[in-house]
Amino acid sequence: MNENLNPEIQDDEQVEELSLRPVSFAQYIGQDKVKEQLEIFIAAAKQREEALDHVLLFGPPGLGKTTMAFVIANELGVQVKQTSGPAIEKPGDLVAILNELAPGDVLFIDEIHRLPMTVEEVLYSAMEDFYIDIMIGSGDGSRSVHLDLPPFTLVGATTRAGMLSNPLRARFGISAHMEYYTTEDLETITKRTADIFEAEIVDEGAHEIALRSRGTPRIANRLLKRVRDFAQIRGNGKIDRPITDQALTMLDVDVEGLDYIDQKLLRTMIELYNGGPVGLGTLSVAIAEDVETVEDMYEPYLIQKGFIIRTKQGRRATAKAYEHLGYPVPEL
Ligand SMILES: Nc1ncnc2c1ncn2[C@@H]1O[C@H](COP(=O)(O)OP(=O)(O)O)[C@@H](O)[C@H]1O
Ligand SMILES: [Mg+2]
Repeated sequence: MNENLNPEIQDDEQVEELSLRPVSFAQYIGQDKVKEQLEIFIAAAKQREEALDHVLLFGPPGLGKTTMAFVIANELGVQVKQTSGPAIEKPGDLVAILNELAPGDVLFIDEIHRLPMTVEEVLYSAMEDFYIDIMIGSGDGSRSVHLDLPPFTLVGATTRAGMLSNPLRARFGISAHMEYYTTEDLETITKRTADIFEAEIVDEGAHEIALRSRGTPRIANRLLKRVRDFAQIRGNGKIDRPITDQALTMLDVDVEGLDYIDQKLLRTMIELYNGGPVGLGTLSVAIAEDVETVEDMYEPYLIQKGFIIRTKQGRRATAKAYEHLGYPVPEL
């Protein structure tokens, strides 16, 4: 059985995500580059009967990193133990987890950039040579204990490539950068989810949800649920384009897929800071969001869509941002 070592209580959305999660490469839509590489490395490792090299998955929240970790284990035909950086507080916690691994198993560490340094240091030898040396006790009674481990595959996920230390990053043989999904892929994902929910959806409805999901499957699934509610109460249950548009407009998701916070962020840049440059810290305070959230979730998409550019002096709103929000574009 797959075991969840993360003590966090699972909320409804997390439980539901489990049922929506693709379990194989065949079901996993999009991320073709990442999938193609992993398929080759997995096939090779299986042929040699070795553990797959350690895999690092980068990317903004909701793009399918956790899903991919479980797909990798499933394709390898091994068990997966799941935990997260902040859940492993001390080396002993890590030792307890490593001790439970069978040869070839996957250890999935989510938010790996948040591992305490003392734990990270123990992880180095575990990853490189499959052993750990830890100190037990303190003072005169302390001694070093050597523990051999079975070969295993560490799959680490992080939203912030820049936050990983170099020694840790260097120990991953495979690193995969998850991209925002294309509209086409999101449309397929939306239809698949609608199918699982037994909701009636037409192509134009799925297309509209896809367009407005910020390139992110988790958001597509979430919007679909809200649109389904709307269609059920305000329509005849069928998810078509007009119903989708009405529902998403009510939810403040605009035609570019920007939500209330995205819009607030851009408006603040324009109204308070003349379009910038403004530092990320200042901007985060101004919109009352924490810097991590802005940097991980909001900014990458706004940059990719060309609403913001990053300069040495800070962030700037582009002409596209002014136009989109209905402000006159300033002369440069
Ligand atoms: N490639 C995909 N195909 C279909 N559904 C996906 C895909 N990637 C993610 N999802 C859906 O999006 C949700 C969020 O994915 P998750 O793996 O939790 O993202 P992350 O770990 O990167 O935050 C999952 O529950 C899953 O239903
Ligand atoms: Mg995740």
